[in-house]
Amino acid sequence: MKDSQPSTIYLKDYQVPPYLIDKTELTFDLDETTTVVTSRLHMRRNPEFGLSTTPLVLDSGVDVKLIALAIDDYTLPEEEYRLSENQLIISATPDVFILTCETLIEPQNNTRLEGLYRSSSMFCTQCEAEGFRHITFYLDRPDVMSIFTTTIIGDESRYPVMLSNGNEIERGKTDEGKTFVVWHDPFPKPAYLFALVAGDLEVKNDVFVTQSNKEVKLQIFTESHNLDKVDYAMEALKRSMRWDETAYGREYDLDIFMIVAVDDFNMGAMENKGLNIFNSSCLLASPKTTTDDSYLRVEAIVAHEYFHNWSGNRVTCRDWFQLSLKEGFTVFRDQSFSADMHSETVKRVEDVSFLRTAQFAEDAGPMAHPVRPASFIEISNFYTLTVYEKGSEIVRMIHTLLGAEKFRAGSDLYFERHDGQAVTCDDFVSAMEDASGVDLTHFKRWYSQSGTPVIEVTDEFDAASGVYRLTMTQHTPETAAQPVTLPLHIPVKMGLLDPNGQEISAYFNGQESQEHVLHLTAESQVFEFTGVTTQPVPSLFRSFSAPIKLRYDYSSEDLLLLMSSDSDGFNRWSAAQQLAVNELTVLINQAIAKQALSIDSQLVKGFKNLLENKELDPAMVALILALPSQAYLSELAETIYPAAIKEARGFFKKLIAKELEEDFGRLYREHHLEGEYSPQAKDIAHRSLKNMALSYWLETDSELAHQTVKTQFESANNMTDQFAALSSAVHSQHEDAENMLASFYEQWQHEPLVVIKWLMLSANQEAADALSRVKGLMEHEAFDLKNPNKVRSVLGGFGQNVSGFHHEDGSGYAFLADQIIVLNKLNPQIASRLCTPLTRWKKLQPELGQKMKGQLERILKEDLSKDVYEVISKCLA
Ligand code: PHE
Ligand code: ZN
Repeated sequence: MKDSQPSTIYLKDYQVPPYLIDKTELTFDLDETTTVVTSRLHMRRNPEFGLSTTPLVLDSGVDVKLIALAIDDYTLPEEEYRLSENQLIISATPDVFILTCETLIEPQNNTRLEGLYRSSSMFCTQCEAEGFRHITFYLDRPDVMSIFTTTIIGDESRYPVMLSNGNEIERGKTDEGKTFVVWHDPFPKPAYLFALVAGDLEVKNDVFVTQSNKEVKLQIFTESHNLDKVDYAMEALKRSMRWDETAYGREYDLDIFMIVAVDDFNMGAMENKGLNIFNSSCLLASPKTTTDDSYLRVEAIVAHEYFHNWSGNRVTCRDWFQLSLKEGFTVFRDQSFSADMHSETVKRVEDVSFLRTAQFAEDAGPMAHPVRPASFIEISNFYTLTVYEKGSEIVRMIHTLLGAEKFRAGSDLYFERHDGQAVTCDDFVSAMEDASGVDLTHFKRWYSQSGTPVIEVTDEFDAASGVYRLTMTQHTPETAAQPVTLPLHIPVKMGLLDPNGQEISAYFNGQESQEHVLHLTAESQVFEFTGVTTQPVPSLFRSFSAPIKLRYDYSSEDLLLLMSSDSDGFNRWSAAQQLAVNELTVLINQAIAKQALSIDSQLVKGFKNLLENKELDPAMVALILALPSQAYLSELAETIYPAAIKEARGFFKKLIAKELEEDFGRLYREHHLEGEYSPQAKDIAHRSLKNMALSYWLETDSELAHQTVKTQFESANNMTDQFAALSSAVHSQHEDAENMLASFYEQWQHEPLVVIKWLMLSANQEAADALSRVKGLMEHEAFDLKNPNKVRSVLGGFGQNVSGFHHEDGSGYAFLADQIIVLNKLNPQIASRLCTPLTRWKKLQPELGQKMKGQLERILKEDLSKDVYEVISKCLA
């Protein structure tokens, strides 16, 4: 452990910056050993700050070496500044001046992948949130916005492509015969949006004509062997640009928009102004190497980063506590875009399923925080499901409360009012209120309170008067950091079904309708409906109108009715999930008690009906057939028994498979597509149902199923089908699974994006010797501890491996802890993310929980980065 612990930063301590930087001129002299960065910062004291004697404090990283420092033409001697581990302090400055600073950095030794670093043969940057300080001394905070001019000097034969933000304004040769390129970005921006790329890259060009007839040059850069995989991203980019014009009235603002793919990247992608940088796994796509899921992800992330040009860049965040201002809103925008491009219901189900599994778990664990956190130790730890996904749910609720038209008026006002500014979540809400006249004062509590609200609902029906009453009670669980929780403003979109599954038109507040939006604002409230002639089944929180946990005592019959008849597609899925959860819970409890598993399943009956209905969207059928995941069942459990959950799921899947064996065989044949691959929604839907059917079918003894999976694996013309066959074979413990895994690697070893899928599946494979297999994977030629995608695949995949990770002797936990300790030094952000499975120790069955805790305590004794320290110390608090 270190002698002094890292300190906590609080939102309540926010102050405007004492200095401003109007212009930033940077020169990079790129070199394989040391890179020289020279900055000329046009600075002045901030009149809003008041005090005119405050020293100038610049942020810096330990990896930046100062060579020379000058104010205007005066070179500062060492006595006139102070240099510490993370700051450069100059006690006296004029009111207006130019600070010139020369620094040395070593991108080739930068394994944190923050600041300027190397990825294969290229140079690239990652500056969000606080990476710029690893490049040079700066006011590295988002409310300091500056106009950047960047000169890049490099050897043209190695770096024929040299890019930065904005437009290229000049190019030439230096005296030493190197090439220089000058880029100028006319839009003021914070340092976290700065980017630089240099390398031997190929480019795909295109053009987009904006709604006001401006031509924008579009460019996607990759290493030459990947140039054949960028067409889909380019089309997705053009669809995004068009959609932002129609849906939000937002037009692109520069003459050029560039995207670069890099192999080594901590996150998915980054919205740097005019120069987005992508993890290649989120950009490249081709039928033979990319699954349907990945195609959809590429489209969504291309859109997400593009949408940031307005929600993030033109209007940015005042401070990092406001991160959800740009991320929550932009996720909402990309989700709406994907819904418009494909199926709204399918998209909603996928997003909610993810939220309920992963964000709810975060909100119930030691890292729980509000969408606008009140404090942090390391901001990198707050790029979370809460800030992103729950943040998006908040924006979605505002959309529900205002209606589409007023919401659009609100977003128009927000962009117009705050263009060029760094603002807060409160500013966003104010714009929504001012444009709509809707009071969101109470609603805003969603930003400051963490935890998932639980809504208990009871009902009563009086046949004589035709009155139906719903009583709703809300409660958000307390946490150590949040001892008191208060009621939230919760929009409840709902309807009523009669016993035949028909929608009931009922009166609420004098309004007759089949669908209502109720406002639950108090701790407990009664909602009264009149004109109801039969006992209804309530369909609550349609399309998941709020991120809550619903408790209503549905019978299996009620759930079957909703599943087959609700007009809300989302709730049909949700009812099926609930029924599956109920039945799985019975089985899990039997498994915990070491009893023989047995159940008279009602869900099977629901599935039978579902499979006979030919009207339904095959994608929805596939989603309904997907059993609640191990992770979701763990989230729901009071105490997690990993092996019991796994056993119950396995048993249940087999039971369903046997009951419906013929249907699954038939579905497989009906949804099998011939012909060329296309990632369009209709085809994706058929493939998803076919492959879902295959995964059930394989759980039976059918010889034909076992043959089919091999045939599909060997003859598929696309990765979706090939990988689905492989995964099903692996997960069903097919006798040929080992051979299939080996031949898959053999076939795809030269495609890194396929190799990471293979690594993940291999690490995920349940087996008695899972741990030694994972150790083998880390020794494999395909593995590289410095590549985040590979680390995520192997260690992330292992974290989901019940028999390996949760081995009763604790060896899985010890192994993960060892890797975290190594990665803590190499790449703190990645190390910190790998801690996630360990954060659940308090909920784990006690024998396992104690072993996990022991590993957390062991990690805490190490010399930790802020990133890992924050997570581990909060786990043990
Ligand atoms: N801002 C990026 C995105 O959402 C995420 C990111 C954060 C990337 C930090 C890199 C580093 O869209
Ligand atoms: Zn984002």
